[in-house]
Amino acid sequence: MRAKEWIKERFPIDYKKFIEINESIFIKEPIPVHMKKWLFAMGTTPFILLPIQIITGILLAFYFMPSPEMAHESVRHITEEVRMGFWIRGLHSWGANLMIIAIFLHMMRVFFTNAYRKPREINWIVGFVLLMLVLTISFTGYSLTYNQLSYWAMTVGTNLVKEIPLIGGFALELLRGGESIGTNTLTRFYTFHVWLLPLIIVLMMAIHIIVLRVHGVSEPEGYEKGYYAFYPTHFFKIILATLFLLSLLSLLAIIYPPGIGVPADPLNTPLHIKPEWYFYSVFLFLKFIPIKLGILITGIAVMGMVFWPFIEPFLSKDEKKRTIISYIIGALTILILIILTLIQTFTL
Ligand code: HEM
Repeated sequence: MRAKEWIKERFPIDYKKFIEINESIFIKEPIPVHMKKWLFAMGTTPFILLPIQIITGILLAFYFMPSPEMAHESVRHITEEVRMGFWIRGLHSWGANLMIIAIFLHMMRVFFTNAYRKPREINWIVGFVLLMLVLTISFTGYSLTYNQLSYWAMTVGTNLVKEIPLIGGFALELLRGGESIGTNTLTRFYTFHVWLLPLIIVLMMAIHIIVLRVHGVSEPEGYEKGYYAFYPTHFFKIILATLFLLSLLSLLAIIYPPGIGVPADPLNTPLHIKPEWYFYSVFLFLKFIPIKLGILITGIAVMGMVFWPFIEPFLSKDEKKRTIISYIIGALTILILIILTLIQTFTL
């Protein structure tokens, strides 16, 4: 009682009103009933995974040393000697992969329910920026291990940046901090990975959720109409999903722990250079096409996806026809990405 008064004297806020406002915003928020199906709430998965990535990432940063001499050795130390180190590293590594899978599934759900249409165009773009940021944070994270595979993926990846028209040279210099990959590159990738990108991702996620709350979740045709309150049903669903994800990540971390590979050797180019699986399709495509043309086509395809909500209305004036054409384009894009990824997977 005394503590309550002590606080009230120092922070004279109308607590009753404060609780009422929060109740109406968070606790009683009406959720459409179709959101009971997790596929429709798939966006919550990367949202749950982010704090797991941040906590495990902070624990890894206690031991990781971002220098070419020490990076690989510190990863080996974490994996082989630090108590529970292999598990924390496994959670972080599998968490990143699961996050990308969840974002792709969420994006597909949004696409095939046409949820990017007016008034949600901006949130599609915010979401796409989030996808790009998550891919970049994964790329920088993979590079920190500083083994042969990640070193050469880093070399090939930064070389591609050079080909971007106008800003290529500047972007390459900014990323590498010199002619070749070295101390400056690693410290820069570390800075991007541990605070700059997480900060921007947290901000963008906040914007994504605020814009989502402004419009409310879209309500696709053919599903039961009606609402339920955020608390308790949806809240406990999220808790359950969190426990499921933690168990799944733990299991994967124990059964398939990420390896450490052999230390990076800048003088020895490996026979097969390969990035992480989510870059396989682009990597394979760029391997068989003149690089400048490849970058141009990839750039146009990415821009097409970013601005899809504004391009789609030009496909047809008839909404039904437009939906069918956009489904065909979406399905073909997914098919091409899966085929390229599979070819790259089985050619190594
Ligand atoms: C870190 C990545 C992301 C997070 C954490 C996230 C989170 C969410 C959440 C929680 C929702 C509510 C509905 C649901 O759970 O599915 C949502 C809706 C939405 N998201 Fe995302 N999202 C991400 C990436 C993306 C991407 C890559 C896109 C598309 C390019 C996107 C576009 C949208 C749109 C348009 C909606 C509104 C959908 C509707 O009203 O039905 N998001 N997002």
